[in-house]
Amino acid sequence: MKTTFVPLTLAAILAGCLSASAVSAAEVDRAAEGRAIAAGFGAELRTALQSAMAEGGPLAAIRVCNEDAPRIARAAAEQSGAEVGRTSTRLRNPDNRPDAHEQAVLEAFAAELAAGAPESPPSRLDTLPDGRVRFMSAIIVQPQCLGCHGPDLAEPVAQAIDRLYPEDEARGYQPGELRGAFTITWPAD
Ligand code: HEC
Repeated sequence: MKTTFVPLTLAAILAGCLSASAVSAAEVDRAAEGRAIAAGFGAELRTALQSAMAEGGPLAAIRVCNEDAPRIARAAAEQSGAEVGRTSTRLRNPDNRPDAHEQAVLEAFAAELAAGAPESPPSRLDTLPDGRVRFMSAIIVQPQCLGCHGPDLAEPVAQAIDRLYPEDEARGYQPGELRGAFTITWPAD
């Protein structure tokens, strides 16, 4: 498998942080596109979550995650022609289960974070053995996630999550930990 680390910023490329042969122009384009899709997905989700929290509290916001997250991902997929989703090694929704490659990348991201907090979330672009191209970027736990992913959920929140996700493994997190990753996969050319 060809593995390519994606530079965090264009400045990093220009500064020659990568060896000249590591990344082709097409790969840089894909990485930028992947980054934009992930950022758009994340921003839409955050907006929906914040307004639901403000209007109806965490219980309303759970519905946003439950219904709107998959819907926003589908819309991003239709627009981009790529598969768009979120994945994790500790799942809330079993539909988000990682494949073998995603699992390996999640483990690499976790190791990277464990080695010291990077300035921005780790990300990378890989070409899969079947020719598909995949961009992944890490999702880090923030303080505002703890109401639904932290160690001490309010009882009604815990009950609502238990009802929707009986096999939930996505609680007990602390800020700064790896929660999962955006994962964007383009079909083989
Ligand atoms: C109001 C409750 C709530 C809050 C706040 C919340 N989440 Fe979630 N999260 C959920 C629910 C519910 C799901 C399952 C969504 C689905 O069915 O696809 C989920 C799923 C996820 C997933 C997909 C992987 C999986 O386990 O299925 C990630 C990644 C994630 N959340 C990250 C975060 C991050 C990061 C934050 C903070 C910025 C956050 N969440 C805040 C409720 C919440």
